[in-house]
Amino acid sequence: IEINWDINQAEKKGYPHFMLKEIMEQPEILKISSKISSEEIKKLAKLIKDSEKVYFIGMGTSYHACIYAEYLFSKLGKLVIACDASEFLNKGVVDEKTLVIALTQSGETYDTLKAMRYAKERGAKVGAIVNILGSTATREADITVLMGAGLEIAVCATKTFTSQLMIIYRLFIEFGKLLNKDMAVYERAIEKIPKYVKEVLNKKDYIERVTKDLKVNNYIFISRGINIVSALEGALKFKEITYLHAEGMSAGMLKHGTISLIDERMDTIAIVPPKNSRVFNSIISNIEEVKARNGKVIAITPVEIETADYNIITPNVIEEISPIIYAPAYQLLAYYKAVQLNRDVDKPRGLAKSVTVE
Ligand code: G6P
Repeated sequence: IEINWDINQAEKKGYPHFMLKEIMEQPEILKISSKISSEEIKKLAKLIKDSEKVYFIGMGTSYHACIYAEYLFSKLGKLVIACDASEFLNKGVVDEKTLVIALTQSGETYDTLKAMRYAKERGAKVGAIVNILGSTATREADITVLMGAGLEIAVCATKTFTSQLMIIYRLFIEFGKLLNKDMAVYERAIEKIPKYVKEVLNKKDYIERVTKDLKVNNYIFISRGINIVSALEGALKFKEITYLHAEGMSAGMLKHGTISLIDERMDTIAIVPPKNSRVFNSIISNIEEVKARNGKVIAITPVEIETADYNIITPNVIEEISPIIYAPAYQLLAYYKAVQLNRDVDKPRGLAKSVTVE
């Protein structure tokens, strides 16, 4: 047998980039994240229940996971606030009845650690949802939940993001149980997440074909409801590695400025919520508005949207888990576009895996 791989490639398990390897690993990682840290998740859920104010803080992709928490907990009538950790010192209101949950894959992000210390000094309880065992955040937090996503090498966070969402989803379930809510439907959904994610990953050739028709320099990612998280994270992935301008926002915000930019030089990626969502119909009319202005629309959607130029069809799932299911679709979109443009996919210019300075 002739082996042509060098060590570097071997670590990539035959994939051309770590990012693609890490995207493809998600079904397996999500299985791990769906089982790991059960005791800690229960304890953290109890702390959420017992705290007057709850903040989820993080930077970059981790901040987007915080927004997911904000939407999920609102469904159980619990106000939690997602906060950009670098702004926490400027607007966080902290006392002994406050809980601050830091989301940080590396456990080393400067702004997140600084915000954690600020909260602790003011008597707040501090939790951390972290991927790296023994990192600074795990040493400083009162309670740590490990995500179990394994080592992520590409600068672009992919599997650690969906792993964070899984942990938050489980936190939501445990919190609901503490309120004596029936969470059975949510618990059952967990089992199916890896399979749904695999179904989306199986669309990779189609997604690659779609990227060949993305020829403009400006992109907007829109959604409504809990998938605002997907719009923001989709735009971040895209700009990080393609170096093309991308913005994510609620479809509702479109009319308040950005729509004036839409023409044949701006493509729109519409993340269509599942059919059971109350915002399903409104996004369809937003897509029509974009089309009326000659904008191209790529829909990531559970049903075929006739007006869209491309439909990346996803399984139709409950809205609460949909941000986990949609993630591989826009991750692959960013990945293939960046490869076509010959970008340094695993190490985009000017970016670091872990930002340890202000
Ligand atoms: C850097 C990375 C991002 C990451 C962010 C927060 O900007 O490039 O991928 O989301 O830091 O990192 P953390 O380790 O705190 O999750």
